[in-house]
Amino acid sequence: MSADHSEIAVGPGGWIPVALSADLPETGVMRAVIDGTQPLDLVVWRSRSGQVSAFDNRCPHRGMRLSFGFVRGERLSCIYHGWQYGEDGACRHVPAHPDMTPPTSICANAYACRDHDGVVWISQDAENSGELPDFGGQGLRSLSVETGEAVLRKMLADTHLPVSVVSDIPTAEATIVTQNQTSLVLEAGSDAGNLRLMVHFQKITRDRTMLHVQTSPELPAALRISLSRWAERFRWSAENLGTMMNSWDATAQETHP
Ligand code: FES
Repeated sequence: MSADHSEIAVGPGGWIPVALSADLPETGVMRAVIDGTQPLDLVVWRSRSGQVSAFDNRCPHRGMRLSFGFVRGERLSCIYHGWQYGEDGACRHVPAHPDMTPPTSICANAYACRDHDGVVWISQDAENSGELPDFGGQGLRSLSVETGEAVLRKMLADTHLPVSVVSDIPTAEATIVTQNQTSLVLEAGSDAGNLRLMVHFQKITRDRTMLHVQTSPELPAALRISLSRWAERFRWSAENLGTMMNSWDATAQETHP
């Protein structure tokens, strides 16, 4: 690739989170945008057999967004004229010329794409074989938040998490136990032992961030529901930062469900 994406935040190994695995089922197609000196606009898709792939979101034929397309077996088909692309980006089929073997020059720009530990990751290095972070999490939800990543990290460092659905102390102060360029892990004591929340940051613009949130595995269903509601309240607070920045606590959570 010739474009300079040097400002894109990547984690160890050069990987960027773009979705929770559960949100990209077999034959699913989604768009993913990542901020940088020149933003990346990607199509991310999963084949019938479960393979994940990511390309520039632009059909090599006439430039249609490939995220409008659909999956046929192990290929992504453009919605405009139906050209089909394999997992490596190479064109495999042109419906107007069904007997033609497409030349190798017809190829969508492909990225490395991996489904690892409940998260779909992409790398600008198509040959990337670097290790991915291993958090052992279970997908909770992804949230689009109209707030920059730096503010979100600051707020997460000062938040309370729901830790019980039965006791008189339903929330506890959370501690950041580790973080890197793309991810952060919060921990708090809970009814179910140490509760961990993994938050993966997909920077969309300077003021807009996609959060991909995972929890410790095998949490009670009621606690996962409480954490999902916490995530909604956290978004509300982040997007109303002007009035909430100094009062982000459990009381604010209860006041603005
Ligand atoms: S624009 Fe995609 S097949 Fe024509």
